[in-house]
Amino acid sequence: MRLLLESAAVLILLWSCLVFVLAGRDFYQILGVSKSASTSEIKKAYRKLAVKYHPDKNPDNPDAVTKFHDINDAYEVLQDDEKREIYDRHGEEGLKNQGGGDHGFGSFFDGGGGFRFHFGGGGDGGPREIPRGGTIHMDMEVSLEDLYIGKFIEFARYKPVAKPASGTRQCNCRTEMKTTQIGPGRFTMSPQQVCEECPNVKYVLEEKVLEMEIEPGMRDGYQYPFIAEGEPHIDGEPGDLIMVIKTKKHGVFERRGDDLYMNLTVSLRDALVGFSVDISHLDGHVVTLHREKVTWPGAIIQKPGEGMPNYDDNTRRGSLFITIDVDFPRGTFSDEDKEAIIAVLGQESGQTTYNGL
Ligand SMILES: *[C@@H]1O[C@H](CO)[C@@H](O)[C@H](O)[C@H]1NC(C)=O
Repeated sequence: MRLLLESAAVLILLWSCLVFVLAGRDFYQILGVSKSASTSEIKKAYRKLAVKYHPDKNPDNPDAVTKFHDINDAYEVLQDDEKREIYDRHGEEGLKNQGGGDHGFGSFFDGGGGFRFHFGGGGDGGPREIPRGGTIHMDMEVSLEDLYIGKFIEFARYKPVAKPASGTRQCNCRTEMKTTQIGPGRFTMSPQQVCEECPNVKYVLEEKVLEMEIEPGMRDGYQYPFIAEGEPHIDGEPGDLIMVIKTKKHGVFERRGDDLYMNLTVSLRDALVGFSVDISHLDGHVVTLHREKVTWPGAIIQKPGEGMPNYDDNTRRGSLFITIDVDFPRGTFSDEDKEAIIAVLGQESGQTTYNGL
């Protein structure tokens, strides 16, 4: 009787484990986004997490690998409308059943396009680090307009891809200690290079089109990761490709943080009597600068909310600062003109003072 109860308990335990597995992972929670998140919110969340939990950055944290795995799986599903819908309806299990065989979810994750971190495989059973190809940093020049509005940019990269070739090659080489008997009861240990035989491969350059989303407000120097698109490694995982955003110089606006700066030259007349000028902004909308007051050379006029969108919170914007230069007339006024100017500005010529040393 007691045995029966115990086995029932074990069964219940097993069953609840099974339910847990079937229920799958909460991809939304993993990426920290809401169920209604837009694709760009998902991409943004993914990029931040992928950088944070990248195994290269967390060599001492074994949990980071699992976490990184989850983040990538969640992203693969949620950024794809079709997969996301299946996931929303049937959970992770629904995706595994989808299509069956070759085109299923599992093969998608483990297939050639994906990447995995393998552990084990070293005879001793302990985790063996898989070598990784180099990380490549590349600059991507982006206009200020694109950083203001946002844009999808496609670019082609020639990527070395390993293809099967004839023959075999030595692989997974490691140094092991070998014990040799050198006499009765006498042994010596010496390091020895041990390799495996792998099918030979050759590298072929293949064009791969990658797409990056420039989101409104991205900063100069922003690192946009393409996981596993970097240098390949013949015995391991490819490194990453990191696209670094470089802002192209703009003819009118200069960016500092989320603020924009521009220079504007007005005539002396406008500086004195006021002016109204329409400035065409980065997305073409018009900012009207209207002054009734006198404007002095070097005056800085602030237009709040007309700067760059803030990357983390697009509802916030910086300011536009307009530095005014005054274009003074050259030459000499006629006596009548001088009279007229004096009539307006007043007689006090003693205003011009020199506070010498
Ligand atoms: C404005 O003029 C100053 C002085 O000539 C210059 O240093 C600055 O780069 C200019 N700013 C812009 C946004 O062109």
